[in-house]
Amino acid sequence: MFNLILFGPPGSGKGTQSERLIAKFGLKHLSTGDILRSEIANKTALGLEAKTLMDKGELVPDEVVIGMISAALDANPDANGFLFDGFPRTKAQSVALDNLLGERNEAINVVLALDVSEEELVKRLLNRGLTSGRSDDADESVIRARIIEYHKKTSAVADHYALDDKVVKVKGEGTVDEIFNALSREIEKRRKA
Ligand code: AP5
Repeated sequence: MFNLILFGPPGSGKGTQSERLIAKFGLKHLSTGDILRSEIANKTALGLEAKTLMDKGELVPDEVVIGMISAALDANPDANGFLFDGFPRTKAQSVALDNLLGERNEAINVVLALDVSEEELVKRLLNRGLTSGRSDDADESVIRARIIEYHKKTSAVADHYALDDKVVKVKGEGTVDEIFNALSREIEKRRKA
């Protein structure tokens, strides 16, 4: 089994690259943002609660997303490995993920961290907001709030995995193909090891 966290700030290309990586490496894609948006679309109680926070660019509570990931791991006992996208996003989520994987005699193999400048992130997300219908892309102040939340709470995830030397920084600017090739090389190195 190979378990990967695709890490990076909002707009760094996690979703774009995840789609390609899961196809190439046969991993199961677990995106907490996608799961939350599907809860919102289905107008569930969880979705309604999450929407208020997401519209402000804030994180939803740890216990909510940890519960979602735990259920997704249980639902996919035969997966070859998981690609975590947008999770973990706090130190507490990282510890919970390590425990959930540990219970299954698994662990995170590598954290690939996409490095993109803040101005490029804002440009990409404003551009996507023209067509995506995502309310958290429509307004520059919400985009900037998401980036601030990332620096305040999410960068700690990289610090957590750096302790075990699992974090690899990858340049997240360039063409989608160039970045995909760089990510693929890092995965291939570790799958062989
Ligand atoms: P989430 O859905 O995870 O969104 P995000 O992290 O803000 O990331 P994005 O989807 O905006 O960006 P991305 O890095 O996936 O980039 P993408 O490939 O789309 O989370 C949304 C919200 O849900 C959070 O704010 C929070 O409220 C909540 N949430 C989710 N998970 C949570 C958790 N674990 N705990 C608590 N709360 C949670 O690309 C962005 C754009 O750039 C696209 O238009 C794309 O086409 C373009 N692009 C991609 N690559 C390139 C390139 N190389 N060059 C030019 N453009 C590019």
